[in-house]
Amino acid sequence: MEKLALFGGKPVRQEFLVFGAPDIREAEIEEVVKTLKSGWLSTGPRVARFEKDFKNYIGCKHAIALNSCTAGLHLALEIAGIGEGDEVITTPLTFTSTANVIIHQGATPVFADVERETGNIDPQRIEEFIKTKCRLDPKTGRQANRQTGQLVKAIIPVHLYGRPCRMDEIVEIANENNLLVIEDAAHAVEARYRNKKIGNIGDLTTFSFYATKNVVTGEGGMITTNNDERAKKLRVLRLHGLSKDAWKRYSKEGFTPYDILYPGFKYNMMDIQAALGIHQLKRVEENLKIREKYFKIYNQAFSNIPEIEIPIEEKDIRHARHLYTILLKLEKLKCDRNQFAVALQAENIGIGIHFLALHLSSYYKKKFGYKRGEFPNAEYISDRTISLPLSTKLTIKDIGDVIKVVKRVIFHYKIE
Ligand SMILES: Cc1ncc(COP(=O)(O)O)c(C=O)c1O
Repeated sequence: MEKLALFGGKPVRQEFLVFGAPDIREAEIEEVVKTLKSGWLSTGPRVARFEKDFKNYIGCKHAIALNSCTAGLHLALEIAGIGEGDEVITTPLTFTSTANVIIHQGATPVFADVERETGNIDPQRIEEFIKTKCRLDPKTGRQANRQTGQLVKAIIPVHLYGRPCRMDEIVEIANENNLLVIEDAAHAVEARYRNKKIGNIGDLTTFSFYATKNVVTGEGGMITTNNDERAKKLRVLRLHGLSKDAWKRYSKEGFTPYDILYPGFKYNMMDIQAALGIHQLKRVEENLKIREKYFKIYNQAFSNIPEIEIPIEEKDIRHARHLYTILLKLEKLKCDRNQFAVALQAENIGIGIHFLALHLSSYYKKKFGYKRGEFPNAEYISDRTISLPLSTKLTIKDIGDVIKVVKRVIFHYKIE
């Protein structure tokens, strides 16, 4: 076998394979141009259309378009009245924004470890936290953390990589303990859990349309709910707390004065973004089929490599196939995950790391005193995970190159 590019060999590919490349086609380009020519750039008719199409796709009552998934998570906590003195249970194996928003509200994130096989929050660990670390507060009817005295008000499960969490168990725990369920479905537009569409299960669900996601608007997000009151409030809060949005204020419907109902936020989606989203959403199922095919090719290629653990397949769910991740069996390799990642990059294969466990980052260690060993499954995955390119923009040849490079790097680093 030739030398790795990292050590002076020739890379398998000449061109760098970008990780998470967006797949933008003519239809959305034309729609963006039409939007620019229409003179209506911000929240208007295209956002309304995208919301309607998304709501129909999910099969829920309300879909409210936002400028990010993070904005959705933040608004969900805001309308739930979660703030100082409150705690929210979530996973340590997620993107930082899932927990950032809890901190922005003045509340505290408390982590429950993930399942080793899926990386998703483990309902048993949530239950264990409530049973062993909380007591029922008779004044509020809520669970209070015995150590901090704070009230536990919500759970944010994250459907990691597009794989739905065990929602039946999570919803049951939430109902028993008066907790709101806010789903972080940034990766999971197409996901289903036991034939229920994600976005139609918990109290509120947030989706991301960031540039690398399954549906892309550049930056963008959506929050879904079946609760009329919450939906009404979300619409107001996403645009400064105004009683009437710009479309109503400035369109030919005529002048209507507005009131300020809350000190809201600037979280609205633009029509330019929705122009992309409308056409991206039309291809969502077609694109899923392509990623399912690539996922299968990767699984077949890596299934008999002893140094690699591939994602498990589960019945009763539909995985949204957002990220293809492998786990490195470090005991069989002479390198760590970061060295492995550097070797792939040197061979011109872009990769991602999803995710570094949050509790091991500087802020969490300093602020909450977390130490290695507290969430062993999240740490195990955090140390070994590597995400390979899965975009629908890739060709079968690109997928073949990734496989070739992974095998080459494994061959170089494996312990004989
Ligand atoms: C799990 C998870 N949650 C939330 C987000 C935030 O999404 P956005 O960038 O749309 O705010 C991301 C983004 O990558 C994510 O991966």
